[in-house]
Amino acid sequence: MCGIVGYIGENDTKEILLKGLEKLEYRGYDSAGISVLNHEGSHVFKVKGRIATLRESVDEGVKSTIGIGHTRWATHGAPSKENAHPHVSNSERFSLVHNGVIENYAELRDEYLQGVNLNSDTDTEIVVQLIEKLNNDLNDVDKAFREAIGLLKGSYAIAVLDRENDEAIYVAKNKSPLLVGVGDGFNVISSDSLAMLHVTDRFVELMDQESVIVRRNEIEIRTLDGTRVEREPFVAQLDASDIEKGTYPHFMLKEIDEQPFVIRKIIQEYQDDQDEIKLDSDVRQAMMSSDRVYIIACGTSYHAGLVGKQLIENLAKVPVEVHVASEFSYNMPLLSDNPLFIFISQSGETADSRAVLVKIKELGHRTLTITNVPGSTLSREADYTLHLHAGPEIAVASTKAYTAQMAVLAILAVDTARAKGLELDFNPLQELAIVANTMEALCDQKEAIEGIARDFLQETRNAFFIGRGIDYYVGLEGALKLKEISYIQAEGFAGGELKHGTIALIEDGTPVVALATQESVNYAIRANVQEVVSRGANACIISMKGLDRDNDTFVIPQVHELLTPLVSVIPMQLIAYYAALHRDCDVDKPRNLAKSVTVE
Ligand code: M6R
Repeated sequence: MCGIVGYIGENDTKEILLKGLEKLEYRGYDSAGISVLNHEGSHVFKVKGRIATLRESVDEGVKSTIGIGHTRWATHGAPSKENAHPHVSNSERFSLVHNGVIENYAELRDEYLQGVNLNSDTDTEIVVQLIEKLNNDLNDVDKAFREAIGLLKGSYAIAVLDRENDEAIYVAKNKSPLLVGVGDGFNVISSDSLAMLHVTDRFVELMDQESVIVRRNEIEIRTLDGTRVEREPFVAQLDASDIEKGTYPHFMLKEIDEQPFVIRKIIQEYQDDQDEIKLDSDVRQAMMSSDRVYIIACGTSYHAGLVGKQLIENLAKVPVEVHVASEFSYNMPLLSDNPLFIFISQSGETADSRAVLVKIKELGHRTLTITNVPGSTLSREADYTLHLHAGPEIAVASTKAYTAQMAVLAILAVDTARAKGLELDFNPLQELAIVANTMEALCDQKEAIEGIARDFLQETRNAFFIGRGIDYYVGLEGALKLKEISYIQAEGFAGGELKHGTIALIEDGTPVVALATQESVNYAIRANVQEVVSRGANACIISMKGLDRDNDTFVIPQVHELLTPLVSVIPMQLIAYYAALHRDCDVDKPRNLAKSVTVE
């Protein structure tokens, strides 16, 4: 949550910062601000709202070659201009942007800042006032910055400007992501490489609790005890066009349409010259030798994990537990003797999942991250990584990452099964190729699916998604998509569980979307549909060819039974998209949310 940028160089800073912040808006978008320095001093512009509003508030006449910027997702303090970053110390000498949560801010305030006037409700302001206080005592900004960083507990990526020195940006991070981008005669900082691709594709990774001074032609990295660290930049393997919408009205629609290509890319990346699965042998060994797999994830990635359980248990015959990361951290079950932990995370930065990873590493268990961002925190810190190859996912609502996660899990499951010598009548690469073609066919039926959104969801305030087995898991994802972007209250339910209480909510016209893609439960789910229809529900049945019946609302072409979630989710994604569109919702940036959830 929250995005940070910074620039020091020869060109005017404002546009570089604003462009970077626009690319980082997916990380939070309730308020924003920039701070720039020039010979007149420091200039801070802040607004409640989006970068577009910030852009309007910035004084074009102010020229500067050094600055920092921030787009916020509120944690401490409501979204407001006062709580927006940059925060400024009382003498106005220092301005600071921060991503993360300072856990000991109250203790720091009480111990160091008695009598200091505070102007916001944020944990962040404490840090900038602390730096000023320490500098007043030490009369050395570098030392004051390092000492302040040493006192912080929690997660942070921080950048600080000193009005008295337009030659340096002070930078540090702990648990929250931050990179320094390297240019010719300039350097930048950014929460991710995407945001600064318009100026450089070379980035230096920062480690937790390093104190960094970014100058025009130099990046000085030190550990907190002052030891100098040298680190080479890496080249970001990204194409700037990957993060543009092109002719699409929304990133979400573009990303839904990209799913067939992503699946083909995964086939290509995980296939060897003999058309067999190509997978890191260490990952294979870890799967082979584990007596139980624990999948840890949040939100949509958790839903992919539920499908992963079905795949791994069915194909590889390894028992799997799937846990919501935020619960697992505080309520750990009894673990097996030889577990393997799989972290599924599109961003690789989700704080809830990372908290589990840290604990699991302390316990000495093996860890694998399945992520779309190989250099991300979860990827770096786990023993092994499998890459999703989905390309940047910008819309807050996850779509192509979800299907990519399930595809990679299917490959992992089959690879393990084969390594264990199990006989399988299932070639995942061939079956995924069929899935990709089917996805394409479904993406071509947008008009029909938009009609479903209109017929079933136009007026409603709530909706249910039901299914059995693997369809239930897709129902959970369908409901999450719908509520996340259209604000219609939606619940995913196991078809047979409704009658144990929840059916009381069904009244005339309540939309119930039922999935019927599994032969073994086709009869049972249809009986559940009858139960709600006889209580007035407006039932939308999405079935798979071969299991379809007269009057089903939408029939998806047949794919392998275990891979149906990869295709049945596409109508769910599109239904949510069009329902949100019909309600004039901001599809790509739904309220109260952020793409990457880097606070616990
Ligand atoms: O980056 P991650 O996959 O770890 O993110 C987990 C969830 O925050 C994420 O899937 C969220 O639920 C999506 N916005 C849902 O569309």
